[in-house]
Amino acid sequence: EPTYETLLVERTGRTALVTLNRPRVLNALSLKVMHEVVAATELLDRDPGVGCIVLTGSAKAFAAGADIKEMAPQGPVDMYLTDWFAAWDRLAQLRTPTVAAVAGFALGGGCELAMLCDVLLAADTAVFGQPEIKLGVIPGIGGSQRLTRAVGKAKAMELCLTGRIMDATEAERAGLVSRIVPAADLLDEARAVAETIAGMSLPIAMMAKEAVSRAFETTLAEGVRFERRLFHAAFATADQKEGMTAFIDKRPPKFQHR
Ligand code: CAA
Repeated sequence: EPTYETLLVERTGRTALVTLNRPRVLNALSLKVMHEVVAATELLDRDPGVGCIVLTGSAKAFAAGADIKEMAPQGPVDMYLTDWFAAWDRLAQLRTPTVAAVAGFALGGGCELAMLCDVLLAADTAVFGQPEIKLGVIPGIGGSQRLTRAVGKAKAMELCLTGRIMDATEAERAGLVSRIVPAADLLDEARAVAETIAGMSLPIAMMAKEAVSRAFETTLAEGVRFERRLFHAAFATADQKEGMTAFIDKRPPKFQHR
């Protein structure tokens, strides 16, 4: 495993845990963090031995946003030329399922990073928001779009326009997070979810991810057609035969990821 300056990467069986590791600045997302998260997850994504990637931060902060000190002096031309934050989009292109395990602050870029993951698990200590407006900017890693799709217009508008922070309960009620767990259990729960996903057939899990993701990109009719094509394609896998045979034989399936 390569080593990183701002991350820890740990593999257990078919799952990987990527931990943001800039505790002194509450995991502020500098460009270095962006490039390392993208490099680390893309490397894991290319490994068929990895069936699920968990992304987490610390107990106090998943991430308190983009690195304000790094951004403060920037001008628009340099930001345009470097396409500031664009590499984060590559997280949404990973084919391996990802789980965000969020405790503490998930603000600005931190909230956006959590929303770039497929499953969002929250500790009861998690808080979410897009407070960029208080800094004289707006979200820049997709927050205005993904938050709106996740929680609807009224709440997304309120959060983006006032910078108000919402707690885990409100985030769950609004549909931003899949589940709240006690903070002490967050990593165990995230690992358990990851192990469950990684225990499924990898190509089928990829198809499920692709199908759900498509819902955010297309019309209902096209999305349903896309799903149906993948559903038919699933019958080309050995794992479909194994999964259905195992059910009929009343035994657990042994997926080969083929
Ligand atoms: N960037 C850089 N440094 C940050 C940071 C950030 N986003 N968030 C916190 N830090 C640093 C603080 O500057 C502080 O460093 P020093 O000790 O050197 O002063 C350290 O982390 C600890 O932070 P606090 O002392 O502020 O901790 P707190 O517990 O009192 O407050 C907090 C926690 C409410 C999260 C507060 O840190 C905060 O408001 N942070 C900024 C949140 C924010 O505005 N995020 C949006 C950023 S813009 C963005 O993300 C753009 C985008 O869409 C991509």
